[in-house]
Amino acid sequence: MSAAVENMTPRIRPMRQTDIPAISGIERATYDFPWTETIFRDCLLAGYTNIVLEQNGVPVGYGVMSMAAGEAHLLNLCLVQALRGGGHGRNMLVHLVEGARQGGAERIYLEVRPSNKSALSLYRKMGFHVIGRRKDYYRAHIGREDAIVLVQQLFPDSES
Ligand SMILES: CC(C)(COP(=O)(O)OP(=O)(O)OC[C@H]1O[C@@H](n2cnc3c(N)ncnc32)[C@H](O)[C@@H]1OP(=O)(O)O)[C@@H](O)C(=O)NCCC(=O)NCCS
Repeated sequence: MSAAVENMTPRIRPMRQTDIPAISGIERATYDFPWTETIFRDCLLAGYTNIVLEQNGVPVGYGVMSMAAGEAHLLNLCLVQALRGGGHGRNMLVHLVEGARQGGAERIYLEVRPSNKSALSLYRKMGFHVIGRRKDYYRAHIGREDAIVLVQQLFPDSES
């Protein structure tokens, strides 16, 4: 395989069942308390907006977003470590936010660990703002960790 092919630009496409082993591998390598393969399968069955970032035919990132009653909820956004810091996380987020807007959602919510400074920075730069905390939302190695809740209004006249 040539160097040019190795460096092919990643592209975003819908997630498929066959992606689940690969994205679960990224998930396990990333999070201390990863989603199981069953959770990803359920997200596909539920018809959520499930995307994969693919490079050279291999998933290198993914995002999962639910939509109901005019509200979108970003449930997962993750990129393989080697590609972080290159704008791909932002690109996936832009894609998901645009999907929520086109799907008619008025706002999009997400939760993030207070310790996840890079994700918090990304979300703030992308127009999300903090609206509160969910106490003891996440598992932690000792006890639990709160979640910071953020929202982005997708239409100027909608209220949070
Ligand atoms: C969060 C994540 C998806 C961001 O993707 P990424 O491709 O690394 O981020 P980008 O290169 O698109 O950067 C976008 C912004 O994120 C922030 N950011 C990214 N990496 C950062 C770092 N190491 N430190 C601080 N801020 C960082 C910056 O604000 C950056 O904007 P800038 O480029 O103008 O400085 C990725 O780091 C990741 O997969 N992390 C592990 C999984 C995770 O924590 N997901 C979020 C769960 S809520």
